[in-house]
Amino acid sequence: MGFARTCSVALVGVEGVVVEVQADLEPGVAAFTLVGLPDKSLTESRDRVRAAVVNSGAEWPQRKLTVGLSPASVPKAGSGFDLAVACAVLGAAERIDPRVLADIVMIGELGLDGRVRPVRGILPAVLAAAGAGYEQVVVPECAAAEASLVPGVSVLGVRSLRQLIAVLADEPVPDEEPDEPGRPDPLLAGLRVPGTGAATAMHSNGAAQQDSGHDLADVVGQHSARTAVEVAAAGGHHLFLEGPPGAGKTMLAERLPAILPRLAREESLEVTAVHSVAGLLPPGKPLIDTPPYCAPHHSATMQSLVGGGPGVARPGAVSLSHRGVLFLDETPEFSSHALDALRQPLESGHVVIARSAGVVRFPAQFLMVLAYAGPDMFNGR
Ligand SMILES: Nc1ncnc2c1ncn2[C@@H]1O[C@H](COP(=O)(O)OP(=O)(O)OP(=O)(O)O)[C@@H](O)[C@H]1O
Ligand SMILES: [Mg+2]
Repeated sequence: MGFARTCSVALVGVEGVVVEVQADLEPGVAAFTLVGLPDKSLTESRDRVRAAVVNSGAEWPQRKLTVGLSPASVPKAGSGFDLAVACAVLGAAERIDPRVLADIVMIGELGLDGRVRPVRGILPAVLAAAGAGYEQVVVPECAAAEASLVPGVSVLGVRSLRQLIAVLADEPVPDEEPDEPGRPDPLLAGLRVPGTGAATAMHSNGAAQQDSGHDLADVVGQHSARTAVEVAAAGGHHLFLEGPPGAGKTMLAERLPAILPRLAREESLEVTAVHSVAGLLPPGKPLIDTPPYCAPHHSATMQSLVGGGPGVARPGAVSLSHRGVLFLDETPEFSSHALDALRQPLESGHVVIARSAGVVRFPAQFLMVLAYAGPDMFNGR
């Protein structure tokens, strides 16, 4: 009766799998079924999509509607499929030509009013789409710069579903009111959900460090400690700093990223992808090209250190310091479980988190700096 398909991306850690979103309309009692291993937030997309379509001025098909996400075996989480589901439905209802939709990858959450909102992990999702040979992606307008970091992909940033329908149907594109300037986007703030790990335990991340202007030249004296920091940077060695309070341990550790080499293009994309999945990319400056610095407090939970959490798994401190510095101040205060959990990433350069929905792998190749101000840890003084 009516069929259309388009694409989106399911994220597993920082790796993406292109998912085909198919919509099928059959005569029958109006119903909307979503199949293909969706999680709770994705199942809720049925209601968001229906409201967004209606509020965008399009007609909701009053027939038996089935939306399938394939491959069905890959677990799918989050709200980033909304845009693709809405367009597949509109394609099946012939509001949009289904042929136009087939080769486009769409990523974005829909508000009930039809506005397109950003989701975590746009960069790795677009990297996966490009890797699978797709050349056109549609993303929320505020994430277009992030998506454009991927070479060989043409990116369309849209503000609302209404705009996207107009572009795809070759109609004049309506203007959308911009978000009020100066006011923090509640949605971007919402990406950093307190209590879910990554964003809470850090008092610094790659982006913050980039602007901090820390310079090793600020350190007065301390020649041997400075040499140690330089040797660690040059050789990629881990570092243990011991000394009385106020001796400058934290100061030295904070300045280590500044003397590490800048990240190469590939490394920048890797680091940026991790921060993108964590929802920590600074808006307006999507590429992280200097080594990140991450200093979790010693009360950090295992999850905030190694990663995890519900829905799309978040990277932990070990991954947020990938290709940069992980600073564990007052190291003995960390729980022994947390310190033990660092062994795997230290040995293998990545962290593997097993969850009921599958295994998630994040890169975690960092330079570790430990600091301790108490009595000599090794000589028992
Ligand atoms: N060698 C130094 N050169 C310049 N400033 C220094 C030096 N050592 C310490 N300071 C100053 O003292 C402050 C405290 O140093 P810092 O926090 O790095 O010490 P710490 O060894 O980490 O102490 P704690 O064990 O209490 O954490 C720094 O912010 C800095 O202003
Ligand atoms: Mg300190």
